[in-house]
Amino acid sequence: MLELAAKIGPAAEAIQSKWSQQPHVGIILGSGLGNYASQVTEEASIDYGEIPNFPKSTVMGHKGRLVCGQCAGVPVVVMAGRFHRYEGYAYQDLTLPVRVMKQLGIDTLIVSNASGGVNPKYESGDIMVLDDHINLMFGSPLIGINDDNLGPRFPDLCRPYDKQLNDRALEIARQNNFVAHLGVYAALTGPTYETRSEYRMLRTLGADVAGMSTVPEVLVAIHAGLRVLALSVVTNVCKPDTLDKTEGQEVVDAAAGAEPKMTTIVNGILSDIAGGQFA
Ligand code: HPA
Repeated sequence: MLELAAKIGPAAEAIQSKWSQQPHVGIILGSGLGNYASQVTEEASIDYGEIPNFPKSTVMGHKGRLVCGQCAGVPVVVMAGRFHRYEGYAYQDLTLPVRVMKQLGIDTLIVSNASGGVNPKYESGDIMVLDDHINLMFGSPLIGINDDNLGPRFPDLCRPYDKQLNDRALEIARQNNFVAHLGVYAALTGPTYETRSEYRMLRTLGADVAGMSTVPEVLVAIHAGLRVLALSVVTNVCKPDTLDKTEGQEVVDAAAGAEPKMTTIVNGILSDIAGGQFA
């Protein structure tokens, strides 16, 4: 991890040369949610290719741009396009943008993702606010010699997801009459969707949904001392005894369909932050 500092600086400087504001919140947009960037009053839009040491995005539905600007009165950096382990990136590389956003000045990270619902009560299109996670990727971006300037050797994970932000996200959903669950996200590497036996196992382990992202970024965010809110869109229902095929396009379409709900929550949270809450 000692070489990370040398990668973070040039990336942050490249962004600052195009946008001089200090962001307060970083937002990572997952599958099919890339359009949230349109909510931002854009002041700079930087292709990942122009940012030194940033990985390049390859997945369908992911754009690969850093959008900087104001949203609901808060200076934000939005990652339209994120990186996954299954694309072949090392954990430290795919999480570098989180380090860079921290260097730019964020204190809060909002992450979104698509997931398969293993809780039988969940339906396609539902939102789940992450209360906790289970890391079944069996890897971590924090492995290696720790850079104490970036964070502690043994970060605590007793509550990775901020309770106040979670409560408020659930309240916003209630006020707007849509379902949002509070649950546990199991992270696997993919790129396969799971077998029936794996979905059954995940449910037994205590997971409510399964996905292929988010946990690496959250581990880095916690290491860096950021407050985290993570929202998941349930894009497919995974009932082991009646499992249908899952197609990538179905996941992208379902995530896009849930976008208004996601947008409502994120805009609501940002408005509160602009109003001085959660300070
Ligand atoms: N499993 C893992 N990741 C996913 C799924 C799933 O069923 N759906 C969307 N992302």
